[in-house]
Amino acid sequence: MLKVLFFGDIVGKLGRECFFDILPELKKKHSPDLIIVNGENSANGRGITAKIYRSYLSAGVTCITSGNHIFDNKEILNNMGSLNALIRPLNYPKNTPGNYIFKTTINGTNIAILNLLGQVFMPPIDNPFNTFEEVLNKELKDSQIIIVDIHAEATSEKKAFAYYFSKRISAVIGTHTHIQTNDTEIIDNHTAYITDVGMLGAKNSILGMEKESIIQRFISNMPERISPLDIDSEAIINYVDMEFEPSGKAKSINAHKIIS
Ligand SMILES: [Fe+2]
Ligand SMILES: [Fe+2]
Repeated sequence: MLKVLFFGDIVGKLGRECFFDILPELKKKHSPDLIIVNGENSANGRGITAKIYRSYLSAGVTCITSGNHIFDNKEILNNMGSLNALIRPLNYPKNTPGNYIFKTTINGTNIAILNLLGQVFMPPIDNPFNTFEEVLNKELKDSQIIIVDIHAEATSEKKAFAYYFSKRISAVIGTHTHIQTNDTEIIDNHTAYITDVGMLGAKNSILGMEKESIIQRFISNMPERISPLDIDSEAIINYVDMEFEPSGKAKSINAHKIIS
């Protein structure tokens, strides 16, 4: 049985700090073979840097997924070629820099991790269903365990993706909304699913960001500079733990929400 921990979007300094603080305890509790984090909001809420990437790997993270904010911090563009454990969404245009599949082998089981962007209420992007289907049939033939982070706004799009690819992949984990949904399940007795795993960051915030400027934006419709809430009395840590058979079949998925 292969054990996996998947942490939702890590937002800013507070998100990173609470992740590094709690990880040793969660490693003891779950004994994971593989740790995945969504890192798209790691650097001041926007993108990720090579330094932050390295700090995740040093802490024991296996793979870092991303989303619509991956290129917000331009520094990462110069490094994408060498950061193999960071994956960008698959359905960006074909020549976009960066790795779009992370592959590893544990005890003879081939594992592949991918990241896709949704189309509903999101910036224009290639169709995630068709793009993934093509890669699944070509580049994932030898992978037994396939885990997809679907980074999307609409719950219907994530659920449709999971039903469409169920039995053919091991897990569909939603990210992007930063709010954990209460709907873990194993679809068709094979594919672990949650609509959104949630985030790591300040609890008394809006999606990890300072709430005042976001409220102001809704009231005035004027542009506001939005920053992560880096100092807060409480942090929220959202993750799922999953177990997979070497064949690729998911055995369990449990969602966790910790306030610390
Ligand atoms: Fe995010
Ligand atoms: Fe996002």
